[in-house]
Amino acid sequence: MFGARGIEITFTLKKSVLLLGIAAVICSTAAAEQPPTISFTSGTGQLIVRGKPFLVLGGELANSSAGTAAQADTILPKLAQMHINTVLMPVAWEQIEPAEGHFDFSILDRWTEVARKQNLHLVILWFGSWKNAFSEYAPDWVKSDTARFPRAISAEGLPTEILSTFGGETVRSDARAFGALMRHIREIDAEQQTVVMVQVENEIGFLGRGGRDRSAAANRAFQGTVPSELTRGLEQHRLQLSPELAESFKSGGHTWSEVFGANADEVFMAWHYAVFVNKVAQAGKKEYALPMYLNAQLPAPLERAGEYPSGGPHPYYQEVYRIGAPSIDFYSPDIYWPNFDYWVQRYQSARNPVFVPEARLDSAPYNALYAYGQARAFGFSPFGVDSESRASKQSDAKPELSDFYAVLADLSDVILDKQEHDQCRGLVVHANSSRPTQTVALGGYLFEATLSRSWPAKSLLTDDGAVMVLEMKPDEFYLVGAGLTVSVFRDPDTDDRTAGIASIEQISKANGQWVVDRRLNGDESNQGRQLLMDARTIHVYRVKLYTYSDVRSH
Ligand code: DGJ
Repeated sequence: MFGARGIEITFTLKKSVLLLGIAAVICSTAAAEQPPTISFTSGTGQLIVRGKPFLVLGGELANSSAGTAAQADTILPKLAQMHINTVLMPVAWEQIEPAEGHFDFSILDRWTEVARKQNLHLVILWFGSWKNAFSEYAPDWVKSDTARFPRAISAEGLPTEILSTFGGETVRSDARAFGALMRHIREIDAEQQTVVMVQVENEIGFLGRGGRDRSAAANRAFQGTVPSELTRGLEQHRLQLSPELAESFKSGGHTWSEVFGANADEVFMAWHYAVFVNKVAQAGKKEYALPMYLNAQLPAPLERAGEYPSGGPHPYYQEVYRIGAPSIDFYSPDIYWPNFDYWVQRYQSARNPVFVPEARLDSAPYNALYAYGQARAFGFSPFGVDSESRASKQSDAKPELSDFYAVLADLSDVILDKQEHDQCRGLVVHANSSRPTQTVALGGYLFEATLSRSWPAKSLLTDDGAVMVLEMKPDEFYLVGAGLTVSVFRDPDTDDRTAGIASIEQISKANGQWVVDRRLNGDESNQGRQLLMDARTIHVYRVKLYTYSDVRSH
């Protein structure tokens, strides 16, 4: 029985529900229309796509894999089967602007279409003026007109295959082409958001003795005064400078040599590359403001600037880039050297989200766990993924990237949540690691890991191992990994109790639910004392722990 008042309340309620509904539709439409963006939460950067954090399980194509439209049809379905969710694909300047001012996006259109069918996202790698320092991917009409598009000059006084950063026409033309590309992506994709990010150029920097362009324009600028914008900016961020830059930076001087001493050539190049790419990125963002980043070729031990691309966005001079290239959102390492964790750490800061666009394919499964778990990376992407196939493997002894990605895909939402709340850790051990035993602390416990080398005797031993530790609730963790023996201790910084393992279950996801595949006991848990991971493939282990006081102390 409703009186007049009851009817009024029902009507008001219905009206509110309707209004809420309309508001929700408006909000979700607004969120969908926002281009992907980078957001910093609790000290970690996440990629937001359609209003939600997105974990990139990436793979970069080999350089000659996306030069035709038809290649999309064969390559992308295979990558989707490998549980890759984002493909990093080159788009070459020569491909989209074969004749000046005439653009052709047909190859990209087909790749985007096939990517959508396969439920894949794309990151576009703009191979414009530079790819691995050189200018091979610029169109013929650029490469052949050295008067209009000047080359960098070597220390021997010879023209190189590298476009000079001092070419005014070069930067204008590159920026115009990149702007056209971004406009096209907005037109075909702003709604669907298949393309989530763009890398501007590829591994820029000057390769050659002396590490600096010696063209007349470059020499004049090098003799001149360092722009005050740069010295002021470095002065303001003095505490954030890398040790390498801090060591040589003297704000009192005028010329590059006075201000940057022995590093003058490289800082000079870094500044001019930064200013150039900023103009290119700016032109692109004006059309469609996707997140844009630069990738770096990293110096090998003892290599000098010029032996690796001098002035690239490697960690030493990143602050120079931040001042010269404000349109770039973040910087990324291409890690082919063995000390993966060291290089990731050099890119991890409160101002730089971690995204690894290139890494060695053979150690990728392990390094991925370190990147997502310890560095809270929003993405990881080994290079040349389209060359990976089970048939090409010498033996089936090594875990496959696709197996790792399958598990990480099941865990994506959990990982993103734990990254945001700083409830994840990770470590990676290789046979040649400088620290064969590694430890991470989480939730009051220490997790100490070494390569599985002894038991169980029949299982295959491995030269690589990694684990990601996720704190699910107090005293309960998911340990995700392969190839390690893990011991758990109470963290003495928490209290003086002793830790024990209550149970270890190997779990997997079936029909959206986690189910227990095996409970590890006896020989399989070293009599309840350690987690012995499978060396051949990745698993998720649910480990419950307990603590007790040492009775002798009472
Ligand atoms: C780094 C480059 O960025 C990639 O394009 C590719 O050339 C790899 N090196 C491996 O060769």
